Amino acid sequence: MKKTLKIITLTILFTFTLFSCGKKEVKNPESQENPQSEQPYEEHPIETPAPTNNLHIESNDQMQYSVTELRAPVGKITLTLQHVGKMPKTAMGHNLIILKPGTDISDFTLKAVDAKDTDYIADSEKDKVIAHTKVIGGGESDTIEFTINKKGTYDFICSFPGHVSMMKGKLIVE
Ligand code: CU
Repeated sequence: MKKTLKIITLTILFTFTLFSCGKKEVKNPESQENPQSEQPYEEHPIETPAPTNNLHIESNDQMQYSVTELRAPVGKITLTLQHVGKMPKTAMGHNLIILKPGTDISDFTLKAVDAKDTDYIADSEKDKVIAHTKVIGGGESDTIEFTINKKGTYDFICSFPGHVSMMKGKLIVE
């Protein structure tokens, strides 16, 4: 009986200690709330990029481009594709190909699979390409210059086998 009483007393004491400690801890965050509320969180909606004739786009080890829409004014355009990942180009290579309007993308990429030696552009499909970077691996980049004089929307893709479903976008020339 004595033992049981001792355990009950200890349990009550322990519970009380926990409770009072918990109460004290609640007070601290309150005093730290003010500095945070002075800098309210601002939401940054995804804005369409401003047109520029000096385009920069990144690609990574997760098989992604950093943007899916590029905007440029008509005329001479400089485009840099950067690979910010670490994987070699044999495993996670990326390129960026700007296609002529009306090009069948799935047909283009199907034929690209066997065109490793020509930056994954099949000889039979060269006439569908407005401009393209070479295939790059992690840490590399490639800059190309080309001219588009006709306003419109142009598809861009990565033709590395298997990438096009994740890596495609629109270049809007205005
Ligand atoms: Cu790719």
